[in-house]
Amino acid sequence: MSASWPCVRVPLGDRAYDIVIGHGALAELPRRLGSLAKRKCVYVLTDETVARFHFNPLAALLGQHGYAALHLSLPAGEGTKSFETLGRVLDWLIREGAERSDVLIAFGGGVIGDLGGLAASLMKRGMGFVQVPTTLLAQVDSSVGGKTAVNAPAGKNLIGAFYQPKLVIADTSLLSTLPRLQLAAGYAEIVKYGVINNAGFFDWLEKNGPRVMALDADSVAHAVKVSCQSKAGIVTEDETETGVRQLLNLGHTFGHALEAANQYRDDLVHGEAVAIGMVMALAYSARLRLAPSQDVQALINVLEAAGLRTGYPGGGRFAPDILVRLMKDDKKARGGKVPLILARGIGESFIYPDADLSDVEAFLDSHRGHAGAK
Ligand SMILES: NC(=O)c1ccc[n+]([C@@H]2O[C@H](COP(=O)([O-])OP(=O)(O)OC[C@H]3O[C@@H](n4cnc5c(N)ncnc54)[C@H](O)[C@@H]3O)[C@@H](O)[C@H]2O)c1
Ligand SMILES: [Zn+2]
Repeated sequence: MSASWPCVRVPLGDRAYDIVIGHGALAELPRRLGSLAKRKCVYVLTDETVARFHFNPLAALLGQHGYAALHLSLPAGEGTKSFETLGRVLDWLIREGAERSDVLIAFGGGVIGDLGGLAASLMKRGMGFVQVPTTLLAQVDSSVGGKTAVNAPAGKNLIGAFYQPKLVIADTSLLSTLPRLQLAAGYAEIVKYGVINNAGFFDWLEKNGPRVMALDADSVAHAVKVSCQSKAGIVTEDETETGVRQLLNLGHTFGHALEAANQYRDDLVHGEAVAIGMVMALAYSARLRLAPSQDVQALINVLEAAGLRTGYPGGGRFAPDILVRLMKDDKKARGGKVPLILARGIGESFIYPDADLSDVEAFLDSHRGHAGAK
C-alpha cells in the first residue's frame, strides 16, 4: 500500500531525494523516517494556523509508529521569516538536544519551509531536513530545490543557503483548509511551469484548472506532480541558479516590482503578483513580436478561470516609472538593461539578457487598460 504514492525523484547524486505526492501521502512519513532518523524522535517546526488544523493528526500518526514529535509553533505569516526567529528556532533545537543525525520536519507553507531549511543547515553544521508542505505554493515550488532563507530589513531572502531536504511529502489532503486566495496563489506557480516549457501541461490546465481549484484529488495530485517534475528537472540541471534555473523567475521580475511597490501588503500576495507578472512578460514578448498575442489571451483565460487578477493596476504606486525603478534595483541593472524571462509562446520561455528598461517603461504605459486589466 505504501508504495502506491506517486513519487518524483530529484536526482542530485548523493543528495538525491524523493517527493511523495498524493491525497493522504503523509501516511508514508513514518516508514520513510526509518532510514532518515537514528532516534525515535523528530523535531517539527510549524506555524500556529497549520498547527491548529493539522498538528494533532501528525503527532498521532508519528506516535502510532513510536516517534515522539517535539514541536515549535510560530506565528503565521511572512514576519516569522526573520533572523530573530531563526535564532529562536536554533535555541529551541539546542535546548531540546537535537543531534546532527536527527530530523527537522518543516510542517507548513513556504515561510516555515524556508526558515526550517536554513535552521537545519546551521544546526550542528547540518541536521536532517524533511519538508511536509501544507500550502499549494509550497507543494509545487518552495519545498523543492533547496533554497532556504530568512528576510533582512533591507530585503527579502537576503540571508540564506542552498540546503536540500532528504524527503518531501506533498499530502494534497492538507490543502482542504487553505484559504481560496492562497490556493489561487499556488495555482499561479503551477501555470508558470506550463508557460516555461510544457505547452501540453498548459493545455491540460485549460481543461482541468477548475478541477484543480476545486481540489479534486486526482487533478491536484497530477498538477503537483507535473510541477514538481518540472522544478526538479530544472534544479537538477542548475542547482545554484547560474543558468536555466532563472527560467523559474518567469513573471517574477515584474511580479516582485508589483509586490515591492505595494510594500508587500497582503492585498496582493506573491502568487497574485506572479500571475499579473506572467501576463506582463508574455505581453511584452508579444510587443517585441516574439510571441503571438493569442497566447497572451490564453494565459489570461487560464489565470482568470482560477479567480486570479491579470490586469496591470496602472497608476499611483504602480506607475510605470516606479515599477521600472524597482526592477532596476532588483536586478542591479547595467546600462539601463535587465535580464527578463520572455517567451516565444506558451511553453517556450527563454532568458532575454538585455531588456531595455526605457522600452519596458513605454510598454507598461501602453499596457494600462490592457485586455486583462481590471
Ligand atoms: N525556497 C523557495 O524556493 C521558495 C519559492 C517560492 C516562495 N518561497 C517563499 O515562500 C513563502 C511563501 O510561502 P506560502 O505562500 O506557502 O506562505 P505561508 O507559509 O506564509 O503560508 C500562507 C498562509 O497559509 C497558512 N497555511 C499554511 N498551510 C495551511 C493549511 N493547510 N490550511 C490553512 N492555512 C494554511 C499559513 O499559516 C499562512 O498564513 C515566501 O516567504 C517566499 O519567499 C520560497
Ligand atoms: Zn514565486
